[in-house]
Amino acid sequence: MPLQILKHFTNGTDKPHLGEDIYTSPYMREGIVLNKMPDISHLPENVYALLKDELLMDGNSKQNLATFCQTWMDEEVHKLMDDCIDKNMIDKDEYPQTAAIEARCVNILADLWHSPAATTTIGCSTTGSSEAAMLGGLALKWQWRKKRQAAGKDTSKPNLICGAVQICWHKFARYFDVELREIPLEPGKLTMQPEDVISRIDENTIGVVPTLGITFTCLYEDVKAISDALDKHQKDTGIDVPIHVDAASGAFIAPFITPDLQWDFRLPRVKSINASGHKYGLAPLGVGWVVWRDRSDLPEDLIFNVNYLGGNMPTFALNFSRPGGQIIAQYYNFLRLGKEGYKRIMETNMSHAQYISQEIKKLDIFELFYDGHGGLPGASWRIKEGLNPGFSLYDLSDRLRMRGWQIAAYPLPSKMDNVVIQRVLIRHGFSRDMADLLVNDIKRSIEYFKKHPITVPLTREEAGGYAHN
Ligand SMILES: Cc1ncc(COP(=O)(O)O)c(C=O)c1O
Repeated sequence: MPLQILKHFTNGTDKPHLGEDIYTSPYMREGIVLNKMPDISHLPENVYALLKDELLMDGNSKQNLATFCQTWMDEEVHKLMDDCIDKNMIDKDEYPQTAAIEARCVNILADLWHSPAATTTIGCSTTGSSEAAMLGGLALKWQWRKKRQAAGKDTSKPNLICGAVQICWHKFARYFDVELREIPLEPGKLTMQPEDVISRIDENTIGVVPTLGITFTCLYEDVKAISDALDKHQKDTGIDVPIHVDAASGAFIAPFITPDLQWDFRLPRVKSINASGHKYGLAPLGVGWVVWRDRSDLPEDLIFNVNYLGGNMPTFALNFSRPGGQIIAQYYNFLRLGKEGYKRIMETNMSHAQYISQEIKKLDIFELFYDGHGGLPGASWRIKEGLNPGFSLYDLSDRLRMRGWQIAAYPLPSKMDNVVIQRVLIRHGFSRDMADLLVNDIKRSIEYFKKHPITVPLTREEAGGYAHN
């Protein structure tokens, strides 16, 4: 800190200038060095104001329709997060009730996803679906290796079959040395087809990962059809391939919106499921879940025991210390909303997504890619093939940002990378009024582009934005 500011701050003495108005303080009038730890302490209210003002430049999360993550919470969740700020969830012996609540959440989820052993199976909280996916993938790899070792066979070339997965599965494959056999998206094949799974299987396949709510398209993969095909394949060849479902978003939607859809432990081949508590689980950021169908589906040698009320509690995690508040907030939501509450929230989200789809369709410029039926509560569209409306979807996202909306525009992966879509995700905290505000802003943007046609459209890199892919 420059000497002049230091003097002013200390009022020429080493005493702080008490009673100084925050915005006439030296921090605000002359600024402070921001990328080096200051030599002296500053008043908490001044530093708070400084940071709060800087954070205003972040996007407004309620208008962030690019994220799957929860951005609106009951007041009570804020209070519980504050109450739990000092709790380390890994210290099971020191915070036994936090540990007990985590175990209850696992039982609730195992039951919701129809585990035949809901009260005795194993599962855990994680930082999100990425960590949960790594744990699910590791269990598949361990189980496969055990079988191969017992048969005296080579264990050096494991592979995993999936569709258009979120980046966490690419990470899993790279970090844990597994070949990823990814089935590309193709026109007419927007979800993984059973025959494309079967044609990729060999004796080194550790598992198949269908996604319930594909990040790029919001669609559900047909877990039952894949499971049936794997049953037949086992009959024909003797090769038994387990399924892990990446239900990051869908695990909290399908049980309420499409309860008869068989995607979960009702299918015996589904051995584990991951989900993001902080997405449609409605918990604050920082919690995911992985649950195994039965305790025997998680290899013993992946489990570590930690002290718990003088005894031992089995744990499986990549991290050690982690905040407990998100777990408590997750449990609060389960108790507070119940199945009825989750159902109403998910139905409301779906209805907003469907409404936005209909309004977008009426504009006659866009072709709906996903209309909010049958998958996640979202909508997506592309510019009609062959039409040049005088702007790109990147330009439209950029223009909407002026009104605070953050809306993802991105090319589809693999063989469909020539198709650019725009996607909105609807979450708890959104209303019909907000949907109308958005649609009106889209209409206004289109009118603007008519008057001021874009001569050099933005590229994806220039437009920025994040699609959580
Ligand atoms: C299908 C799917 N799997 C995994 C993830 C990663 O989840 P998280 O952000 O909770 O780590 C996402 C995130 O969007 C996703 O959509």
